[in-house]
Parts: sequence; structure tokens; C-alpha cells
Amino acid sequence: MDTEIRTASAPSQPVPQGDAGPFAVYEARVAAGTLDRDPEQEKAARRLDRLWRELRDYHPVVMQRAAARPGLFGGLRARLGLGGGRGAQAGPARPRGVYMVGQVGRGKTMLMDLFFDLAPVEHKRRVHFHRFMQDVHQRLHDMKVAQPDLADPIPPLARQIAQEAWLLCFDEFQVNDIADAMILGRLFEYLFADGVVVVATSNTRPEDLFQDRPGADAFKPFIDIIMREVDTVILDSPRDYRRGGVRGMRTWIVPADAAAKAELDTIFTHLAAGAPVQEVDLDIMGRILHVARAAGPVARFDFSELCGRFLGAGDYLALATRFPNLIIDNVPRMGPDNFDEARRFIVLIDALYEQNVKLFASAGDQPDSLYERGQGAKAFERTASRLEEMQSASYAQLPHLSA
Ligand SMILES: Nc1ncnc2c1ncn2[C@@H]1O[C@H](COP(=O)(O)OP(=O)(O)OP(=O)(O)O)[C@@H](O)[C@H]1O
Ligand SMILES: [Mg+2]
Repeated sequence: MDTEIRTASAPSQPVPQGDAGPFAVYEARVAAGTLDRDPEQEKAARRLDRLWRELRDYHPVVMQRAAARPGLFGGLRARLGLGGGRGAQAGPARPRGVYMVGQVGRGKTMLMDLFFDLAPVEHKRRVHFHRFMQDVHQRLHDMKVAQPDLADPIPPLARQIAQEAWLLCFDEFQVNDIADAMILGRLFEYLFADGVVVVATSNTRPEDLFQDRPGADAFKPFIDIIMREVDTVILDSPRDYRRGGVRGMRTWIVPADAAAKAELDTIFTHLAAGAPVQEVDLDIMGRILHVARAAGPVARFDFSELCGRFLGAGDYLALATRFPNLIIDNVPRMGPDNFDEARRFIVLIDALYEQNVKLFASAGDQPDSLYERGQGAKAFERTASRLEEMQSASYAQLPHLSA
């Protein structure tokens, strides 16, 4: 895996202790004007708020089992929890998860991230669903290599996943692949038996997942499990916030002066939509790429931070898959002496373009005048053309490709 989303790979999170739940924080952002009022989002925020409350008293069976010493009642309880199967467990009942569905740009991811940050859970994971499935396939493969005699790797895999994190937040839940469809039903049955709680965003209702496809019938039991374990919340607001957001904002601001910086400040605040400014570390094959300024779906860099140091395609791709929006201050005019910067900028723009990242920049000149002379100036023509396209209204509508 080249990158994980935010804190997704870290099994341990600081546990927020505050009294403000998702609904209160959402309302505060509306009151502060960083979010527009939206009754559909309010409804979803209330449902997430209920789950947030329920999680405060909930101890999943997988954690009870981990805490129980062998030979004591814990062992027996653990066996009961698994034995009669699925779903039986001690303590308060497992809260139902939340599956948010709606068209693009309705604020599903924004609400899920808000919930995730506040969730009073140490072992939580927020991950793009596609990435999660890649991880599942990798682990299944590793288990088969390590234990060729293992008849059924799904139960131990589920146990492993649940122990690392029992609150799983999936962005962009979808099933495109028969190989995934085959695994999902049993995997989730075991995850739920271990007490896992699931929150998800999706453009597809659970009952419509993987339908009209060969093998759809075999997938029906999974749909039943999901419908049994999570509540579907439909965000049906008429507004696509992504459209309103990008239209009207300049994306390429010349020159890179104080006014340009102020304009980018406004864009940053708007895109952050109330999310706190924070540092984010991206894990790129075990190496950390530090993002000094990020807020929700946007990251901001000075050109020199991105192209003036030794970064490569892997770093740019990690950024491009993690952040739907990127702001770059101070893109300079470049000449023969800036060959390295120009080359990295080409690679960076390719990565952003491939993932449909929305770019906002201040620059010393228009794209086709940025790098006219020097090694690779010819290749830069494609970059300039992409930068032009990335300023268009049609590009602004493209969905971010996060995996
Ligand atoms: N009430 C709101 N006021 C202002 N901005 C908002 C509001 N809700 C969402 N946004 C912003 O709109 C953009 C799109 O929201 P988000 O990414 O959460 O949509 P989504 O429903 O997950 O879309 P998709 O289905 O394409 O993933 C984000 O930048 C988000 O911060
Ligand atoms: Mg989304």
C-alpha cells in the first residue's frame, strides 16, 4: 500500500473526551458561517450524534476478549461470543452503524470525517473502501503464504482487523469486483460478531450494491448483513457543494503577491469548511511525508516545499490520492537553472491531473510562460496544457479519484 488515509493505519488514536458531539460541532460550524445550513445534513449529523453517544458506553467483544486473561471467565465469555455465533456478546448491545448515501458533493465525507475525529474510541480506522479491500487481499495472500494449511483464512483475518480497530469508517463504499463480492459477506459477518461498528459513505444504497452484475445473487446475503447492522441515512439535499465551492474561485492567480496570498487564504478556509488546520503524516511505504498545513479535504504548500526538495512520483501520488484539493503558493517562472524544480513540477501536475485534484495556485506567470527554456521545456508543454484544462469548469466537476 503506498499510502493510508489520514490516521487510518494507526491503530491507536487519542480519544477525544469532550462533551460536544457531531451535531453540536456541526451546528457550531453553521453558526460560525463555515458551513451552510442544510436540513439533510442536520438529519445525518443527529444520527451520527446518537452513535457517538452510544459508543461512549460500548465495549466490543473483541476488546473484552483481548483484555480477558486466559483461564478466567473471559475465555469462556469469548468462546460464547464466538461459539453460538455471530452477534452474541456480553455488555451493552452493539450500536447500529450508519451508512450515508447520496449524490456527489452532498457532504457525506465531510460529516463522516467530523464524526471520526470526535469518536470516543481509541481503536478506530478511517479508510477509503477501495484501499481497505486492497489491504484485505494483501493480508489474505500473506496468510496463505505463511500458513498453507489454513483452511479458512477469513475468521482470523476478521479477528486481526477487529483487534486493530473496531470502529471502521469507510469512505466511498462500493463493490465493483466479483473477487471482493465473494469475500465481503463472510468477512463482515465475522467482523460484526467481534463487535465492530461500521460507518460508511457511498453513492449507492446498500440494496443496490453490486446489482445487475453477474454473480449478484451470491452477493445478496452481504446486502442483508449490511441492512441488518447499519442504518441507511439518505442525504438528498438539492445542492452539490462541490459545484458551488469551486465555481467563481480563481484557480491560477498571477502574480504571486500579497493579494494572491490573501485570495488563497480565503479559498483554503472555504474548502476546509470548518475542519481544523492540522499537520498530517502520510505513510508512503513506511516513509513519512509530512504535510504541514492541511484542513479536511485541502492541503497547502509553498512551491519550494513540494518541488524544491527531493520528492518523487510516489509522494505526489500519495498527496493526490489523499487530498481532493491542493493549494500551492508561489509557483515561480523557471529557466534552465531550475531544471530539477521544473521536472518535479511536471510529475506533480501529472499526479494531480490523474486523480482529478482541484489545484489552486499563485504563480509568477501563466502556465505556458512558466518554463519556456531549459531541459524538458518540450515536456512542459503538456503540463501547461493540463494546467489550462485544470482551470476549466468541466474539470472542476470531476470527482476526485482517491484510490
Ligand atoms: N453545508 C456545507 N457548507 C459548505 N460547504 C460544504 C457543506 N457541506 C459540504 N461542504 C463542502 O463541499 C465539498 C463536498 O463535500 P463532500 O466531499 O463531503 O461530499 P460527498 O457527499 O462526500 O461527495 P462524493 O459523493 O463525491 O464523495 C467539501 O469541500 C465540503 O467541505
Ligand atoms: Mg465523499
